[in-house]
Amino acid sequence: MRGARSEAEMTGRPGWRRTLGLQVLAASALLGAGTASPPDIATLRTLYAGPPDSWPAPTLHEGARFTEFGPRPPVKHPADNPPSPAKVALGERLFNDPKLSGSGQFACASCHNPELGLGDGLKTAFGHDRQRGQRNAPHLFAVAWQSSFFWDGRAASLEEQALMPIANPIEMAGDGDVIVERLYAVPDYRADFAKAFGDESISLERIAQALATFERTLKPRSSLWDRALERGTGVFNDQQLLGLHLFRTKAGCANCHSGPLFTDDGFHNIGLTYYGRKLEDLGRFTMTGVSADVGRFKTPSLRGLSRTGPYMHNGVMPRLQGVVAFYNGGGANPRPTAEQADDPKFPRTDPLLKPLDLSREEQAALVAFLETL
Ligand code: HEC
Ligand code: HEC
Repeated sequence: MRGARSEAEMTGRPGWRRTLGLQVLAASALLGAGTASPPDIATLRTLYAGPPDSWPAPTLHEGARFTEFGPRPPVKHPADNPPSPAKVALGERLFNDPKLSGSGQFACASCHNPELGLGDGLKTAFGHDRQRGQRNAPHLFAVAWQSSFFWDGRAASLEEQALMPIANPIEMAGDGDVIVERLYAVPDYRADFAKAFGDESISLERIAQALATFERTLKPRSSLWDRALERGTGVFNDQQLLGLHLFRTKAGCANCHSGPLFTDDGFHNIGLTYYGRKLEDLGRFTMTGVSADVGRFKTPSLRGLSRTGPYMHNGVMPRLQGVVAFYNGGGANPRPTAEQADDPKFPRTDPLLKPLDLSREEQAALVAFLETL
């Protein structure tokens, strides 16, 4: 099968494999437009020999916000919450401490488990009284660089975010005053707050500041992708390199997943709203009330991906193969029923998604690339 296919490709494009140098650069710019097969691997090696800004131009559709791939920028801390080693240590202690929950049984780390890619490995999270939430616990590898938090972006800073799961009745179900008292009763906690903030007083605001400061130290584990940025794409095998090229060009992923963290920091509807059905989640609409936001979710960072499944806001996709097959079909495009025809809230799938026509080999290459992140 495979032999037959590649022979057909070669006979369909006589001389393609012999073309070299600048001609190929010009041809690949055209190929970037989308439909044809990618260049052969030797050509790709040449095209991807330099740093990211010398790579073939990404294939972008109207409205895409692309930032070049590259190393992570330094972490910025807010002026009113400067970091210190003592504050980070306190934040880490709090992050792992079930005293922050109403029942004394749930820590942040119960759902953002460092052994499970800082997620919980579950489709959707279990919290207080084993109540099941509606959303997948995201990994926290990229939060230090994000400008909004939660799948719908309803928190604008890590400080603001940190207190929300504590109070959430189906997550930690905590009562702020009780938690502050509980921590104050532990003498070495008072000492830790003094080291971090200058005096022993404990408040929810300080708890949030310490948690946020600790979270800003989290970063993706060093991966093959980091090595490719340091030493060049020579560290990739042929399949991974092809995957990178497809990610940038034919597969269109870079329309939304770009920059050092592989996210545009934006919100898009890729078709997983489940409108009018049991799994319905209106996403960003629940926060803004704007119809165009129905079904839009935050573009997640793709760093550390091989350890952060299951995928999507509701964890419906257990494997990257399934994610890629989903995008290959252009995402999901639900059609309105007769009663829904005039419904302004009917979710509209983002026009940046198109059917991709990726072959099996190309889909496998894309998965191989995603696994390097
Ligand atoms: C019961 C499981 C659970 C617990 C406990 C929990 N979280 Fe979460 N966390 C989630 C889920 C689920 C989401 C996504 C919810 C959403 O988007 O609506 C989330 C989202 C987040 C986010 C946003 C990440 C992003 O990429 O936008 C941060 C940051 C976070 N949690 C930190 C914490 C901290 C700090 C604690 C402890 C104070 C904590 N979580 C406790 C399940 C949990
Ligand atoms: C229109 C913008 C857009 C494009 C194009 C796009 N994505 Fe996404 N991607 C998103 C959004 C938004 C989500 C979260 C959607 C949700 O949970 O409902 C997401 C989620 C994902 C996830 C799940 C990550 C996680 O932690 O759960 C993976 C993996 C992924 N995309 C890979 C890709 C690949 C590979 C491509 C190219 C074939 C691609 N994306 C193209 C916007 C996009």
